[in-house]
Parts: sequence; structure tokens; C-alpha cells
Amino acid sequence: MSLSSRPLDPESWPAFARLVEKHHGIFGGCWCIAFHLGPGEGKRGAAAYRAMKEERVRTGRAHAALVFDGPEVVGWCQFGSPSELPNIRSKKAYEEGLGKLPDWRITCFFIDRERRGEGIATRALQEALGDIAQLGGGSVEAYPEDYTGERTSSSFLCSGTLGMFEKAGFRKTRKIAMRRWVVARRVAPRAGSEARSGKAPLLTEALGRPREKRSARGGRSRTRSPSPRTGRKALPA
Ligand SMILES: CC(C)(COP(=O)(O)OP(=O)(O)OC[C@H]1O[C@@H](n2cnc3c(N)ncnc32)[C@H](O)[C@@H]1OP(=O)(O)O)[C@@H](O)C(=O)NCCC(=O)NCCS
Repeated sequence: MSLSSRPLDPESWPAFARLVEKHHGIFGGCWCIAFHLGPGEGKRGAAAYRAMKEERVRTGRAHAALVFDGPEVVGWCQFGSPSELPNIRSKKAYEEGLGKLPDWRITCFFIDRERRGEGIATRALQEALGDIAQLGGGSVEAYPEDYTGERTSSSFLCSGTLGMFEKAGFRKTRKIAMRRWVVARRVAPRAGSEARSGKAPLLTEALGRPREKRSARGGRSRTRSPSPRTGRKALPA
């Protein structure tokens, strides 16, 4: 399998949209907007959510690492600052035990239903951490489910599995639901990236693309020329 990755941005939007359309808008037409919504922005239809998501992408307010197989997106990992992604599952329990908000949170994965079990979510997570490093790094949280040693419906796992995050260097900090954990790690800024200042730069300013190709589990299969602006993308420490 020869995969590549690039950020969700206006150029990659059509390929992202094809994957969402292939899955009927995903979850009743949510268009991966749920974690972005502020008070009063919910309870709309698929067309409105699509437009809201696209507008966020066009204005650099929606981040995701997309994994491509050829021209098609086969999965993504959504991430962003807490102000960009104000919603998480079990928010009440999360806020009760909250000390300090992280710089970044990883909220949602989606993998083409025909391509699950190939390590694509794992790859998307690696790419998202690389994007965060490029955007200045900082503290990163995620809210995965603990199904260690068990199988469950893949639709319960939109925030990823605890095992995926532990393998990516995250540590459990607290439990916020029966199987849901807050996990955290720091990501070092990539050399040459801008130090985190509370506001992510526009993706088009900060991320080089296309990225070099790697296998789904992270082994590089082919290297492209580095971006003149950002240099070759490597995974964060
Ligand atoms: C959950 C999901 C992201 C996993 O993607 P994937 O590419 O198949 O995952 P990977 O192959 O990288 O596997 C990652 C880990 O998750 C585990 N996993 C994957 N599916 C699982 C399941 N149904 N039950 C338990 N564990 C599961 C794997 O065993 C693997 O564990 P390991 O790291 O210990 O080996 C995918 O099934 C999916 O997209 N589900 C739908 C999510 C959704 O509805 N999102 C809504 C978006 S709006």
C-alpha cells in the first residue's frame, strides 16, 4: 500500500468531501462539524453543516491530517485548538476536573469503511502530530476509548482507542466516562516552525505539501522533494 498525506485545506477539500459523500455525510450528515460548534450553531441539516465546514476550511479554522491512497482520501484525524474545537464527549465531567486547557486537542477519526484494520487511523494520528509540531507544538490532549483486548462497534471509536494513543506517547491523565480517558503528551515544535502563540497560523502558511509517502504503519516508502517553505516533514519527538 502506498499512502500519502496532506492537510485538510481548500485544495484538498474536494477529496475530503468525496469521502464524506461516499458515507452519506457520516452520522446523519454531520460533515465532521460537531466538535466545532458553539452555542446556537447546532440542530441544522447536512447542507448547512457542509457549508459551515467548508467555510471553516477556507478560512483556516478546521485542521485535519488527511491520508490519501492515490487521489482519494481514505481517512483523517481531526485536531485543533480548544477554541476551534470547543466540544468533546463527556464535556461536563471533563470540565469538572479541568486544570488548564491544552494547546491542542485531537477529537475525531474517520476511516473509509472499506479500508479499516489497515493501520490508517494510526497513520493519520502520526500525521496530525507532525502537523501540530509544524504549527508550533505544545500540549496535546485526546479523549479515546479503552477497549483494550476487546472489539466493539467502530462507530463508538470516533475519538480513537486508548492503545493507539499510548503507542503514540500519550499518557492517561484522568477518566471522564466509563471507558473514556483524557490522555496527554507534549509535542516539540519542529525546527523552523512558529512558537505556539495561542492562534494557529493558516494551514497554507504553516504546512508544506505534498508530504513524503509512508506506509500505513509509518515506514517511509518514497521521499519527495522537501517543501521550500517548511522542509521535509518528520514525525515529532
Ligand atoms: C475506529 C477507526 C478510526 C479505526 O480505524 P482503523 O484504520 O481501522 O484503525 P487502525 O487499523 O489504525 O487500528 C488502530 C487500533 O484500533 C483498534 N481498533 C480498530 N477498530 C476497532 C474496533 N472496532 N474495536 C476495538 N479496537 C479497534 C485496532 O485493533 C488498533 O489497535 P492496536 O493499535 O492496539 O493494534 C475506524 O474504524 C473508524 O473510522 N470508525 C468510525 C469512526 C466514526 O464514526 N467517526 C465519525 C466521524 S464524524
